[in-house]
Amino acid sequence: MARRPYIVGNWKMHGTRAMLSEARAIDRAAQRLLKVEVAIAPPYTLIHPIHREAELIAVGAQDCHEAEGGAFTGDISAAMLADAGAQFVILGHSERREGHGESNALVRAKTEAALNAGLKIILCCGENAATRAEGKAVDFVRRQLKASLPASAAELADASDRITIAYEPIWAIGTGNTATLEDIAEKHSAIRALLVDLFGDEQGGDMRILYGGSVKPENAGEILRVADVGGALVGGASLTADSFMGIALAVGEPNES
Ligand code: PGA
Repeated sequence: MARRPYIVGNWKMHGTRAMLSEARAIDRAAQRLLKVEVAIAPPYTLIHPIHREAELIAVGAQDCHEAEGGAFTGDISAAMLADAGAQFVILGHSERREGHGESNALVRAKTEAALNAGLKIILCCGENAATRAEGKAVDFVRRQLKASLPASAAELADASDRITIAYEPIWAIGTGNTATLEDIAEKHSAIRALLVDLFGDEQGGDMRILYGGSVKPENAGEILRVADVGGALVGGASLTADSFMGIALAVGEPNES
């Protein structure tokens, strides 16, 4: 069953309460675009306020700790995120993997913790420019993803409807260099093949694979038409309702009403 395109804004470390008006505008606009599923991952401090006000869009987090609780100063658990109103968490973003030294094993522990806490996850993968130049990107992405997903097959089968993958080539994030449509098609079809291997035809065929990296209203339509692209993870262009919903509009026509 084909699922609606999923357009997710990753606000990164942007946003104080002054940004709540943008979240409201996104929520209102999303109500006229029901063919698209819209969500935002604001900084932790805005999760609860957006959750309280939003009528339609889902709100999520950008990371969580792998433990249920304990002496981890400055960290936040998956259960705390769920308690604040988060429905999903982005895990394994390259800014966490590179900037905070997160290994595949750590990302795997976080995916397991988040799924156990009942959250949905958006699991990120993507190669850097050097790996791409060596022609090893597909191999890298497959290995990274396999090692970051939950280890247990039973856990996988149980959780497939709560797992979304995001392919985000590092060289395309925040740079204005969107991957070519051929690049995107190649990686998404390799990821689809891996998901079918791991989850079987039906579940693996149904899971959404988002593209991320300099998505904007001008290029969203053509990217979302590439086979196996089920949505977009959007950074910079998600910070204003105008540009973010421009992306959603490029993907799904407004409702009649
Ligand atoms: P960008 O970021 O859209 O600003 O390139 C995407 C991301 O990092 O998720």
